[in-house]
Amino acid sequence: MKTGIDLISFYTSRYFLPLQTLADKRGVDVGKFHVGLGQERMAVPPPDEDVVTMAASAAKPLLDKVDKSSVSLLLFATESGVDQSKAAGLFVHKLLGLPSRCRVVELKEACYSGTAAFRFAAALMEGRPEENALVICSDIARYDLGSPGEPTQGCGAVAAIVNAAPRLLTFDDASGLHAEDVMDFWRPNYRDEALVDGKYSAKMYLNIVALTWTHYVEQTGLDVDDFERICYHLPFTNMARKAQAQLFRAAGIKRPSDAQIDEKVAQTLGYNRLTGNCYTASLYEGFACLLDTCEADLSGKRIGFFSYGSGCMGEFFSGVVQDGYRAHLFADNHKALLDNRLELSYQAYEDIFNLKVPEDGWEYVFAQYRTGPFRFGGVSDHKRHYEEVE
Ligand code: COA
Repeated sequence: MKTGIDLISFYTSRYFLPLQTLADKRGVDVGKFHVGLGQERMAVPPPDEDVVTMAASAAKPLLDKVDKSSVSLLLFATESGVDQSKAAGLFVHKLLGLPSRCRVVELKEACYSGTAAFRFAAALMEGRPEENALVICSDIARYDLGSPGEPTQGCGAVAAIVNAAPRLLTFDDASGLHAEDVMDFWRPNYRDEALVDGKYSAKMYLNIVALTWTHYVEQTGLDVDDFERICYHLPFTNMARKAQAQLFRAAGIKRPSDAQIDEKVAQTLGYNRLTGNCYTASLYEGFACLLDTCEADLSGKRIGFFSYGSGCMGEFFSGVVQDGYRAHLFADNHKALLDNRLELSYQAYEDIFNLKVPEDGWEYVFAQYRTGPFRFGGVSDHKRHYEEVE
């Protein structure tokens, strides 16, 4: 019996800024954002939305389909944590009413930790057909106003059930791995915005595509043609095209055509183009997009995954799509969410960006914005309060 992904659900903020608006304000040709980066909109979280509320909102639809009492593991991957000690997953555990006989922990390694969560969950669910693991990747990508990273901001969460009888995808055993201590992107504890050497980060990402692919091929003997599609970590969607070209080169195809590249990656990009980077969630947002929107039947087909976390850690792994997967998707929810967001003006975006959670520990109640079923209500005595709104 193979473990894997049983259900997958995505959530993002109900607000967005068109990159046309940002381009006009910054005096940049919008072609740089739309074509050069491959981004069209960025999701902007209101002040009463954070990684906890996005995570709980992503996970809620899953728990209508599995028995809550069977959830014995909750792994929460994020690099936008709300506390230095307490796991964000414990707030989610309460909001969702999960059982107390459950192991809850938060994982961090930049955008990679979501993959660690999926792989750990799959290993822990082996031989436990009665149990379910809830894996959540939730992040807010923030860079300084006016910085090169600004147009790649975004936010979102992916929640998935991992178990021993997966209805969507079984994981293959092999993993191509690469770890190395580099400073390409980081966020010191005293900063809300990430620091990034963007060009260096993209270079490391591409190097590690080739290194992890080579390690994976050593274990499996598979070739690029054995993959129907490949999902990549998406700091912006054109990164996947660069990555696929790199993987082709590593596989001996020196000059792949745009059509060859698009065939492998294009159908994973639609959601990220409209949300921006969601760090840990981006790779799995791409996978959800592929399952939801790919017209071709993917049943029985092998999908590749490349996960990259700055700092850095990379992994290439794979899985096989299960027969009947289409009956278990949340494609309509995802479409409605992306279709019904509110457009922000530039000024509203900057005002929201500059609002900070007060750090003096006094009593604060936050105004209510449009959110999902859960919101961050305020702070008192240094404690965050979450509430259900729907
Ligand atoms: N029309 C079409 N394309 C245009 C354009 C225009 N008017 N103007 C620029 N471009 C293209 C550039 O040629 C470039 O394409 P290429 O990468 O294929 O060469 C692309 O748009 C980006 O332009 P560039 O000048 O390289 O952008 P930048 O230096 O301002 O920043 C990043 C790009 C990725 C470095 C920046 O967005 C960043 O730091 N992002 C955050 C970190 C990150 O995403 N890291 C990736 C690894 S995880």
